[in-house]
Amino acid sequence: MGKIVVCDHPLIQHKLTYIRDENTKTKDFRQLVDEVAMLMAYEITRDLPLEHVEVKTPVAIADGKVISGRMLGLIPILRAGLGMVDGILKLHPTAKVGHVGLYRDPETLQPVEYYVKLPTDVQQRELIVIDPMLATGGSANAAIKLLKERGCASIKLMCLIAAPEGIQAVQEAHPDVDVYVAAIDDHLNDHGYIIPGLGDAGDRLFGTK
Ligand code: URA
Repeated sequence: MGKIVVCDHPLIQHKLTYIRDENTKTKDFRQLVDEVAMLMAYEITRDLPLEHVEVKTPVAIADGKVISGRMLGLIPILRAGLGMVDGILKLHPTAKVGHVGLYRDPETLQPVEYYVKLPTDVQQRELIVIDPMLATGGSANAAIKLLKERGCASIKLMCLIAAPEGIQAVQEAHPDVDVYVAAIDDHLNDHGYIIPGLGDAGDRLFGTK
């Protein structure tokens, strides 16, 4: 079973509280999400492999370590996932970014792809799927599935806030995927909102409400 990691660093929890606050305006909301994404990137990349290198300092040779192995790929789910991309890129500027757009078919209620653009070497990358609000888990599961169908094997999921229902759905569908969250909330309401949550992440990020 994939692990569930709650990133409970005080800075993340502090910023998440202001992200939740309905009085936080778009500009601050965006900045706080960016900062939390950067802090979560630190945690989600903790197990990246290192290799030994030597560097010449001005006075001697020093043993050093650099990240080795597969490069990162960030896969934000449109549109709220976009809000976490730049924060991660600040720590990992060489990551490539693929985009996945999904909508829910009003009749089947199943997620349908409307836009998928991935790095050409996506199969060779360690992927982080970004879905800030893990509600039912439908979009995250569909995004992970489409990546696996294209041959991707190394996938983690990064969310700001998850509902227990969403976590369970991802664990059932993709037990190989580790999930990183800043908070696990109480439940989903009848409209699919996470309670207490933060409202609609896309609207709050882009000021469309
Ligand atoms: N998407 C959101 O933006 N907010 C929720 O609470 C659930 C899904």
